[in-house]
Amino acid sequence: MGYQNSQIAEVAKALKARAKTEGSAVLRSTELKALFDELKTLPPKQRGSFGKEVNLLKQELQEIVDSKQSTVDSLRPIDATAPFDLNVPPDKRSSLLPSETGSQHPLTTELKFIIDIFGRMGFEAVESRQLDDDYHMFTSLNFPEGHPARDDYDTFVTVEKDKNDRPFVAPAHTSTMQNRVLKKYSKNLKDGKPIAVVIPGRTFRNEDVDARHDHTFHQVEGVYVDKGIHAGHLMATFKAFLEEYYAQEIEVKSQPFYFPFTEPSFEFALSCPFCQKKGCNICSYSGWIELMGMGMIHPNVLKMADIDPNEYTGFAWGFGLERLVMMKYEIEDIRHFESGKLEFLRQFV
Ligand code: DAH
Repeated sequence: MGYQNSQIAEVAKALKARAKTEGSAVLRSTELKALFDELKTLPPKQRGSFGKEVNLLKQELQEIVDSKQSTVDSLRPIDATAPFDLNVPPDKRSSLLPSETGSQHPLTTELKFIIDIFGRMGFEAVESRQLDDDYHMFTSLNFPEGHPARDDYDTFVTVEKDKNDRPFVAPAHTSTMQNRVLKKYSKNLKDGKPIAVVIPGRTFRNEDVDARHDHTFHQVEGVYVDKGIHAGHLMATFKAFLEEYYAQEIEVKSQPFYFPFTEPSFEFALSCPFCQKKGCNICSYSGWIELMGMGMIHPNVLKMADIDPNEYTGFAWGFGLERLVMMKYEIEDIRHFESGKLEFLRQFV
């Protein structure tokens, strides 16, 4: 349908196109939310017609999402791992999903949403590497040679060696990017601006795999540096992010922990977004969920990036993307994400 209001018409055009690939994510998009926010600020006279059109747009998007879902539901489940039998006539073979009914992986959709929230909070995004070196994995993060804390990050290494005769490393965390990001953006500080970067990336660990641990997963790191930054800024920033992500009020708390690259270091917990602290099996009836590590960036880490710790301070965090998404959708097993199972993926179109 045609919208009278040109601003709504423009958003409608973009979101309707995106609804076909992103599915229900458009209903939570910042563009739609901005229209509803604007509605609240309008004088009563304009509110009626604007409100009607925004609601209509929401309805139209819902219909596109629903019809996409019903096409997907009507497809037969297939076993993508079944042997492919050339002797079966083509029309009798299991049909793979045609590309126009494909959809984004839930981690991609959620990561886009997360980067969008941090983008609105002033953070740029830089992706981490899937193969890195010993210097970025350890030394630049204040793990000196032979430091026992290196053993906490048991990951995969290559047979091939780098120029320092060290194997390459499949990074066990996205903190590997801290030194690069601090160096790349240190010019910001000279211009009187903060360094504000989020770093999503794929990470790897030599884990005993179970419902909560996988050998391959994703983290989102955050780095913020400026004059006069303290732990209060860290907690407030992360609380604001979580409230936007889960669209509800969230309580946060921290307790002391140890990481070589932060001082002080914290373990961070949020009030359970599922039961609002009443107790449920997501939070093991404790009302709280331990999410991640964070802290004030260690002076040595700043020094290694040529930033003067007497002048600047900063905070950093690293959280597991899967864990955040599992809590949002009540996903019970982390292994679903990398399984490629269509029964799982089709729930997120
Ligand atoms: N890299 C840590 C891990 O994976 C998480 C972490 C803790 C990241 C503290 C940080 C931080 O940036 O400041 O175990």
